[in-house]
Amino acid sequence: MHYLLKTGDPAAQRTACLVVGVFSRRRLSDAAAGVDRAAKGALRHLLGKGDFNGDSGQTSMLYDLPGVAAERVLLVGLGEEKSFDLPAYRKATAAAAGVLDRGHPTEAVSALSLLQPADAGLYRILRDGVLATEERLYRFDRCKSKAERPKRPLKKLALLTGGRPSKRAREALRHGQAMANGVALAKDLANLPGNLCTPAYLADQARALGRRAAKMKVKVLDEKQMQRLGMGALLSVSRGSRQPAKLIVMEYSGGKAGSRPVVLVGKGLTFDAGGISLKPSANMDEMKYDMCGGASVFGTLAACAELELPLNLVGIVPASENLPDGDANKPGDIVTSMSGQTIEILNTDAEGRLILCDALTYAGRFKPAAVIDIATLTGACVVALGSHASGLLDNDEKLATELLQAGEHTGDRAWRLPLWDDYQGQLDSNFADMANIGGKGAGTITAACFLSRFTKGYKWAHLDIAGTAWKRGKEKGATGRPVPLLTQMLLQRCRLTDR
Ligand code: BES
Ligand code: MN
Ligand code: ZN
Repeated sequence: MHYLLKTGDPAAQRTACLVVGVFSRRRLSDAAAGVDRAAKGALRHLLGKGDFNGDSGQTSMLYDLPGVAAERVLLVGLGEEKSFDLPAYRKATAAAAGVLDRGHPTEAVSALSLLQPADAGLYRILRDGVLATEERLYRFDRCKSKAERPKRPLKKLALLTGGRPSKRAREALRHGQAMANGVALAKDLANLPGNLCTPAYLADQARALGRRAAKMKVKVLDEKQMQRLGMGALLSVSRGSRQPAKLIVMEYSGGKAGSRPVVLVGKGLTFDAGGISLKPSANMDEMKYDMCGGASVFGTLAACAELELPLNLVGIVPASENLPDGDANKPGDIVTSMSGQTIEILNTDAEGRLILCDALTYAGRFKPAAVIDIATLTGACVVALGSHASGLLDNDEKLATELLQAGEHTGDRAWRLPLWDDYQGQLDSNFADMANIGGKGAGTITAACFLSRFTKGYKWAHLDIAGTAWKRGKEKGATGRPVPLLTQMLLQRCRLTDR
């Protein structure tokens, strides 16, 4: 979709559809009041019929309002005026996008961007306008036959601004678009099923990204190369699969040569059946999403490269399947990680930490300013935080604050859990340096404790996205989280965004 900025009187906009907001109890926004004046009170008259009262998310399409240049006027409920904030604005924007997408217009003009939520300036209004719209318009229909893909005429959306569009306003659109593209890329990779989205497929996608972005260099390590590096933990997982593992390394150099990179490490488990510790069959299809951490690394790097951010960034995605097989890990097996530490695999379904630990050791080579790993790591995180917040564990208070703020800012929130030494004892093994599971209690924390043993040399944070990376039920699908959080954090590091 194409976005542009426009100025002028809403009622004078020649467009197939003008979008205006109405607050609860039919209080007109300024734009709606302007439309009502131009229509000589026709809008208030229609609202007087009582079908539409401006509650949050409500919509109503009006046709042929006299005195108004637009062919249609779409009313969108904004909720209470007193409490109108950025989340309410995003919700209204998404509701409008949903109606436009189902309808006929090929273009529209939105006056919602003229609204002034208490907690946001124009930059965020415009950026979130794009993000919330793209969020609603996203479809994954690549695996449907052509006849099953609905026509979608909407191609162009103009956002109204008060004054002449500033450089900052155009930047907001650009940022929104790049973040939305990153989110969509993460969703696409994640929604693609395990038979198509294999480790080799992910590697190809990385190479394609490298060809598109001038400052991106992509390298893919195969199993032989990983063997030479001593990645015994990672390779033990892929041994049970016919798809060879890949270690995908994407280096984006937008910053000064020699300036330390931020390294993102994403779990790229393209299908997790649990291995010999087989998962129950109900909902096992959802384990195609076990590469969402990796997908978010792709999405974030793509967004940063599109924006040509002035920083150095490395994305590392260990990619593998986890399947039962005659050669698969067995409970009790002991493997040696690249760090030299040995691991007793008491549960083959705790495979994420096995592939991540070697990738995290590898990350140390880049002399990182910070390392953030992102993983659908534990079902326990879904129990603890549900689907609203990602779990955050770290060895650096400042890095944690940075991530929490970026999450708050984008509505892609994380919540910090303690990584106290008290929990480390749960990983004790009788036979190896550590076990790969921590027994009863605090599963998200003990998983992070495990990773912390491989991240001692740098500032590190871990995002457990098991609950936030995809939605269940009727709207089943990937969410693209935490691409907004990560991109925001990197924009902040470049001082390119509002706080
Ligand atoms: N990929 C799963 C975690 C997961 C579970 C993500 C449910 C999303 C929804 C991970 O590999 C796993 O299986 N973890 C185990 C760890 C356990 C064996 C210690 C889990 O959470 O049950
Ligand atoms: Mn598992
Ligand atoms: Zn897994």
